[in-house]
Amino acid sequence: MSTIRDVAKLAEVSVATVSRVLNSNGYVRSDTKERVAKAISELNYRPNDVARSLFKGRSKMIALFVPDIMNPFFPELARAVEDMTKQQGFTFVLCNTDDDLSKEMAYLDALTQKSVDGIIIVSSTMTADYIESFDIPVVALDRIIHSDISSVTVNNREGAKEAVQYLKDSGCQRIAHVAGPEHVSNAKQRLRGYLDVVQKEKWFTSAYVEQGAYHFEGAKKATEKLLTGQPEIDGLFVANDLMAVGAIKAAEGLGISVPEQLSIISFDGIKLGETTSPALTTMAQPIYQIGSRAAELLIEQVENNERKTFVEEFAVQLIERDSTCRREDDAIE
Ligand code: RIB
Repeated sequence: MSTIRDVAKLAEVSVATVSRVLNSNGYVRSDTKERVAKAISELNYRPNDVARSLFKGRSKMIALFVPDIMNPFFPELARAVEDMTKQQGFTFVLCNTDDDLSKEMAYLDALTQKSVDGIIIVSSTMTADYIESFDIPVVALDRIIHSDISSVTVNNREGAKEAVQYLKDSGCQRIAHVAGPEHVSNAKQRLRGYLDVVQKEKWFTSAYVEQGAYHFEGAKKATEKLLTGQPEIDGLFVANDLMAVGAIKAAEGLGISVPEQLSIISFDGIKLGETTSPALTTMAQPIYQIGSRAAELLIEQVENNERKTFVEEFAVQLIERDSTCRREDDAIE
């Protein structure tokens, strides 16, 4: 009698992939599905329900992968995921991956050995093909991985447009952008939203955009370059709050007062933004809500042993504080 391993060998896939095809759970590429179905038919394989239920041992454990534990956004997100998993009776495991695929795969290997029930992933490196090798439900949080992978995110592009329009409406006449990493989906969306507003302006040049890598230091250097290269800049949209702290530091070092000479608006709404001087005007993500919702949706799939792809997007909200102000109408030459 053929086993699941015989099918995996003939189809040249992992046992986990065969299991996912049999249970119709999680992402499997269509060509892979065809190979597995062909092997099942050729071997006349009949899954053993008892073995299958044993194979799917439950650990009542949920893991969260985050790319940068040093960024205060992620501990706030982890708090929400942990509260929901605990409320639902699951153990919570937090993994810091440094957005390094080899670290993500090492964590994944260790967790599947422990029969983890599901994983919530914030990642710019994980791909749908790698997720196919998982045999557990996965939810992408904050950053979309693939349209076939469930996700919970925010309206990054619309939020960025609103931030830049807010600077324009407050009288800023030359608005620059400190962007997040080019390979990160939500950084690209925020850059897109900035360009949606400024690209039609005759003053706009690509010199008004600098990379800040989502880090304090990167943003400080990027802002120094922007303000020394284009001293006419009077508005700055920064792609996350942690970088905005670096931008404020850069302006301070150049003797530029915020917001009197330079208005700064950012993105995230982390608690740190309330404590900076000046306090940050920002597009606040519903951080607790998206973390909690991702955990809730993942656990629903684990409990019901079902796999469907859902995509949920939440709206960010403008929080006005002291790093922006209305400008007088004195036109810049
Ligand atoms: O501050 C960290 C950034 O990375 C946030 O904007 C969040 O969206 C995450 O993707």
